[in-house]
Amino acid sequence: MERTLIIAKPDAVQRGLVGEIIGRLERKGLKLIGMKLAALDKTILRAHYAEHVEKGFYAGLEDFMKSSPVVLMAWEGFECIDSVRTIVGATNPRMAAPGSIRGDLAIGVGRNLIHASDAKESGEREVALFFAEAELFDYDKSEYMHLYEDFERS
Ligand code: RTP
Ligand code: MG
Repeated sequence: MERTLIIAKPDAVQRGLVGEIIGRLERKGLKLIGMKLAALDKTILRAHYAEHVEKGFYAGLEDFMKSSPVVLMAWEGFECIDSVRTIVGATNPRMAAPGSIRGDLAIGVGRNLIHASDAKESGEREVALFFAEAELFDYDKSEYMHLYEDFERS
């Protein structure tokens, strides 16, 4: 099964939208396998956002991500990278589809509430960057037989 790293960013924490974000992912049927509150520093942000460090918006992004604690989550599900990106919506919340988290709840590109991994490999890398193995949980979810066909569960 794929894994995705979700960060409820400082704006989600400050606006009291963490529960809303978790609820939408839970209702989809995804499995929460790790979760913690954390204050991110420059070193881990530069590792996480390595592809963006040279871009003009990076300094503002780093300052914002350090501005309050965030909630780090690891979620698991069949092809969950793409389905979570759909639930999250486009990077620019003003272009994000209604019904998506960003489309319903955000306006500014730099205040778009949530990070979600964008590919299978980045999901694995990002989950490993923020979570130790002992912080990730492998357990049976009783509703799986009502969420998945057998081939999707293997
Ligand atoms: P994320 O990584 O946070 O899930 O978002 P994303 O894939 O939709 O966006 P990405 O291109 O990876 O950019 C990472 C975050 O940087 C901020 N950003 N600001 N001002 C700008 O032009 C700009 N572009 C990106 C956003 O907060 C975005 O989520
Ligand atoms: Mg991204």
